[in-house]
Amino acid sequence: ALVVQHRMRSSRRWAKAMEIVREFEEKCATPVGKLRQVADAMVGEMHAGLASDGENKLKMLISYVENLPTGDETGLFYALDLGGTNFRVLRVQLGGKDKQIVGQEFAEVSIPRELMVGTADALFDYIASALAKFVASEGPDSQLPPGRQRELGFTFSFPVMQTSIASGTLVRWTKGFSIDGVVNQDVVVELSKAMKRQGLEMRVSALVNDTVGTLAGGRYDDKDVVAAVILGTGTNAAYVERAEAIPKWHGPPPRSGEMVINTEWGNFHSSHLPLTEYDAALDAESLNPGEQIFEKIIGGMYLGEIVRKVLYRMAEEADFFGNTVPPKLKQPFILRTSILSAMHHDTSPDLRVVGAKLSEVLEIPHTSLKVRKVVVELCNIVATRGARLSAAGIYGVLKNIGRDTPKYGENRRSVVAMDGGLYEHYTEFSKCMDNSLKELLGESSESVELVHANDGSGVGAALLAASHSQYLESDHF
Ligand code: GLC
Repeated sequence: ALVVQHRMRSSRRWAKAMEIVREFEEKCATPVGKLRQVADAMVGEMHAGLASDGENKLKMLISYVENLPTGDETGLFYALDLGGTNFRVLRVQLGGKDKQIVGQEFAEVSIPRELMVGTADALFDYIASALAKFVASEGPDSQLPPGRQRELGFTFSFPVMQTSIASGTLVRWTKGFSIDGVVNQDVVVELSKAMKRQGLEMRVSALVNDTVGTLAGGRYDDKDVVAAVILGTGTNAAYVERAEAIPKWHGPPPRSGEMVINTEWGNFHSSHLPLTEYDAALDAESLNPGEQIFEKIIGGMYLGEIVRKVLYRMAEEADFFGNTVPPKLKQPFILRTSILSAMHHDTSPDLRVVGAKLSEVLEIPHTSLKVRKVVVELCNIVATRGARLSAAGIYGVLKNIGRDTPKYGENRRSVVAMDGGLYEHYTEFSKCMDNSLKELLGESSESVELVHANDGSGVGAALLAASHSQYLESDHF
């Protein structure tokens, strides 16, 4: 009789756990009709953001990039790419029309967590010193012509209200950074002061968002690139807009007639977004509650945390991992998206990788195949929602510039340069995003291509530093 009782109890618990999963799945659903509503809402917000700098969800930041790289850029330029869990410094030797990139070297340094929430000087000193080390280690082929200052493209992947191509103030921190005293400050001034403290002679010639850098790097390789999307720790998009479509631009009309816009779509929000109680909790506990809602359901920083929250509830309310809640499961952000991705891609019949990750990371030593399957299902629900919503975002951007339908009789390609760890390493995510975008575009999907612009943002920043170099003769353009 005891055994029967035990079985009944455990099947009741299992049913409860499955109820939590089903309910979560339903709330995360993204039928194509919903994706269209999201895309349309996004287009509406884009228009609002282009009209004025008021309290819009989409900031639609003006990048001051009016000309994208042509391939003619020459010389030695540097880039510094800051904005995720790592930052990179690179040196690029540009060879002009026929040679393009002649040489390229980079170094990657991880950013200690405490620096992300420390002081401005500590962060900027850290990156300036890494840059100084990089420069100190360079060989004789990295000589600049005598009397020339080194020039740098600074990729700073946060919302910045630019005041020129090489200056701008931080609007707000995102992605787990929170450093007092930088919001509303010019980040180029901060970096330049830190470089001076390091005794490093270098001038920032271009300040760009990673999406803008990726767009520039993508365009260098393919002239049909019209937009760039980052799916990494955070998410964002930039694209080429017609100057007349930017009512809030009161500067001199760009000669090209165009301006690159950094949408900061991570801050998009709409009642059409499929949000759950777990998202609400994640947002409330975050460093930036109420902000970056779109990013919090898509970005690599958050996907694992959402799954952890669901598993935690299942452990607590349905004894999913036995009678006690595994202590590690209580730890915020312990399930990084790389782990999610590894579990999601497990093809072994007994889901060995899932078992190993649950044991290594969450210290849950023995799990049944049944349990592992549910864990994979949760990864799938969260990744699918994020992937489909990012497709809706891309569709919205294309729609905004009239590239969601090929003009009759015109054989136009529209290329979107993609980058970011999520896009690059989470295959199920990118596959799902691809398919969802095709679903949204229908027949027009023939004319739209997504290309991976690998580290486009660093090279792109160096290219923009080159095209905005102080040594260019003014009649160059
Ligand atoms: C965050 C930042 C944005 C950046 C994106 C991708 O959304 O606010 O500037 O482009 O992450 O790194």
